This record gives sequence, C-alpha cells and structure tokens, in this order.
Amino acid sequence: MQSSIQKTIDFVKETLAHAEAGHDWFHIERVFKTAQNINQKENGNELVVAFAALLHDIADPKFNNGDETLGPNMAAAFLQSISIDEEIINHVKLIIQNMSFKNSFEQSSFTSKEMQIVQDADRLDAIGAIGIARAFTYGGFKNRVLYDPAIQPQQHLDKESYKNTTAPTINHFYEKLLLLKDMMNTEAGKAIAEERHKFMELYLTHFYREWEGN
Ligand code: ADP
Ligand code: NI
Repeated sequence: MQSSIQKTIDFVKETLAHAEAGHDWFHIERVFKTAQNINQKENGNELVVAFAALLHDIADPKFNNGDETLGPNMAAAFLQSISIDEEIINHVKLIIQNMSFKNSFEQSSFTSKEMQIVQDADRLDAIGAIGIARAFTYGGFKNRVLYDPAIQPQQHLDKESYKNTTAPTINHFYEKLLLLKDMMNTEAGKAIAEERHKFMELYLTHFYREWEGN
C-alpha cells in the first residue's frame, strides 16, 4: 500500500506541475528534506512536519488573488481524502495558515514545534546559494536590475511596499535575506542559517568587487 506521505508527494507534484520556478516542486522537495533534517534534532511529530512541508505552498495567496484560505483548505481537503486523523489535519492547517510571508513579519497567534521546524526550513530555502539563485530568478521575472548604487536598500518594509518595490535585486538581500538568520526558531535551523548567511556575505563581497572591475 502506498504511504500517505507518498500520496501527498504525488498530489503536490501534480498540483505544482506548472508553478513558477521559485515555488515549484523542487522548492517543496528542498523544504521537505530540510524540515526532516531539522526534525531529527527537534523530534517533532514526523507526519505533521512532512505534511506541512509538502503542502505549505499548495495555493500561494500571491497567485490566487490574495486568498489566504485556499491553501490551508486545499491541504485539509486532500488530507481528509486520504483518511488522515482529524487532529493531524487541524495542526497542518494551522501551520500553513500561519506560515505566509505576512505572518513571518507580523506576530502570529499560533505556534508549535512542528510549525517552527517547517517555517525554518522554508526560510532556509530563501538564503544561501539557493536563496541567491531564487532572488535573481525573481528579479529577472520582474525585469529588475541586478544592482544600482544610487538606489539604497530600505529597512523595515511593510507588506505593501515590499510587494510594490521595483528596487534592484541586491537590495532584497538587505531588506529580507540577511535578516532571516536572526528569525530562525530552532537551534538546528540557526546552525544551518549561520553557514548560509556567511556564504551570502562572501557572495556580496565578490559582487561589489567585480562591480568595480576588480
Ligand atoms: P516565500 O518563500 O515565503 O513564499 P516569497 O514568495 O516572498 O517567499 O519569495 C519567493 C522567493 O522569491 C524567495 O526566494 C524570495 O527571496 C524571492 N523574492 C521575493 N521578493 C523578492 C524581491 N523583491 N527581490 C528578489 N527576490 C525576491
Ligand atoms: Ni515555501
């Protein structure tokens, strides 16, 4: 018999078959692996961590007219369809509801060990080598310049200005990516973030050096 996790993997792959590069199946797979990796140290509920990691971007509000209920509802309906316990479904639903970008800067009302693990794994995918690649992919998609020395990064962007910014992609490092290290929840997450953060700093040093022709 096919395991519930394998069924979920198949469902997510199929649903995200036409997703854009930043939130495709491979993003989900990385978050899933990283969450399982962190969970080896944190000992959260394995099923909750797996389902939440796999289903966390099933219907991103950004691509669904801002609808923040669609993702959690789709996740819950799917888990019901494969007969998962009510308690696990409710927990997974709460995690997905509270993991959106909005909630990552605003204080969220719900938390749990499993939520912290999956959120760390998702944030880790925005930093380090992969994070750099994702940022420039996003910037290219939005037709942004790589860097413009005349346009300074802004601190503490709220959700609206964050969405509407046309700033160079390098600014995104200062506005979000370099801040993520200090937002990690778990010890295991912090350790991975530390390493990825250093790599981004090294990357930026080289970037400016090359910008000057050196
Ligand atoms: P999440 O991973 O929480 O869904 P987003 O949807 O905001 O986060 O971003 C998806 C990816 O696109 C991330 O790697 C993020 O760093 C990148 N990204 C988002 N906004 C920008 C931006 N203004 N400039 C460059 N990269 C961005
Ligand atoms: Ni994600």
